[in-house]
Amino acid sequence: MAIVRFGDISCALEPGETVLDGLERAGASIPSSCRVGACRSCLVQARAGAPTEASRRGLRETWRQRGYFLACLCRPQEDLEIALVGAAAERPATVVELARLSPSVTRVRLALSGDRSDWTHEPGQFINLARADGLTRSYSLASLAGEPLLELHVRRMLGGRMSTWLHEQVRVGDAVRVRGPLGECFYTPDAPDAPLLLVGVGTGLAPLWGVAREALRQAHRGPIALVHGARDPSGLYMRGELTSLARATPQLRYIASTLDGDDDDAADHEPIARGTVLDHARAELARLGAAADTRVFLCGDPELVKSLKRAMFLAGVPLRGILSDAFVTAAPPAPATTTNSA
Ligand SMILES: Cc1cc2nc3c(=O)[nH]c(=O)nc-3n(C[C@H](O)[C@H](O)[C@H](O)COP(=O)(O)OP(=O)(O)OC[C@H]3O[C@@H](n4cnc5c(N)ncnc54)[C@H](O)[C@@H]3O)c2cc1C
Ligand code: FES
Repeated sequence: MAIVRFGDISCALEPGETVLDGLERAGASIPSSCRVGACRSCLVQARAGAPTEASRRGLRETWRQRGYFLACLCRPQEDLEIALVGAAAERPATVVELARLSPSVTRVRLALSGDRSDWTHEPGQFINLARADGLTRSYSLASLAGEPLLELHVRRMLGGRMSTWLHEQVRVGDAVRVRGPLGECFYTPDAPDAPLLLVGVGTGLAPLWGVAREALRQAHRGPIALVHGARDPSGLYMRGELTSLARATPQLRYIASTLDGDDDDAADHEPIARGTVLDHARAELARLGAAADTRVFLCGDPELVKSLKRAMFLAGVPLRGILSDAFVTAAPPAPATTTNSA
């Protein structure tokens, strides 16, 4: 039975229990959100002992060398002493701009504090945003690397703590902390003639908006199709910007898709294509015409991302050509039962 030590807390893990579950059971407070390895909020450092390889997979080399690992994925065989990851991975930032993009989506722009010469990100990657009280959630980056501010698109979730705060309570000038950049869902210029298919629902548009503009900035030559889905037309935020970009860029097709709802803005925008995002994604892949060479980017609702991934693979896109970010939300914490803190 592995013993995990964190500050004054010492906890004997139960068989199969993760470091995160065990420490929470023993009363520790560790930042966390998805609990399945997607958001990386629970990054901690091993001060003694070896975390499992599964809990370090995909972390950048410098982080691995510092002993960082994901507490929600770690079921250690040996004792561990851990610490929260501090200044080495986090940096202070300030909320500098807030704008409502739709009834349920707010654009949040952040300025990193101090010297940002060592900050670089690829649009489509994500950051972990932490409030003063430690609440941490992941948000994708819509901004290009050279742009001075980090841009996030935040969907308000009913009962959601961070998204409600970002919609209703946060003020310009408020301090937050940023960890990242994280994730591999971004454009690389190694196949400039490859067709690109970008598919997302809701704020899944945030990384895709970044990826599309980055591809164009890097003079991508292949055709690009961007499918953005929403339940009804009010969810098709940034339709004006996307319509303008598509009209000015012959290689870019923008498909705004909803299942129903009246389209009051059809005169000024690309008309809405009715139907499911899945059907539009399949149709666009067929139109692009070279599934085996197509790079596919899928972002947003985890179930939809899973279905899209499967559909794209079955339609001939190799798994290595599919990049995705599933916006996994927080799982409820493990129930607090008996504690075995020593
Ligand atoms: C890689 C990644 C990228 C992401 N990018 C974006 C992005 O660009 N834009 C975006 O809007 N979101 C994004 N997300 C999602 C985001 O991180 C948050 O999960 C989301 O904003 C909700 O957080 P919250 O604190 O508001 O909600 P939470 O408080 O975490 O609640 C989430 C949902 O679960 C329910 N819930 C909470 N606690 C319980 C409980 N105990 N029992 C049952 N139900 C419960 C809530 O009612 C709510 O519906 C991303 C996630 C990941 C992993
Ligand atoms: S990666 Fe561990 S809580 Fe999300």
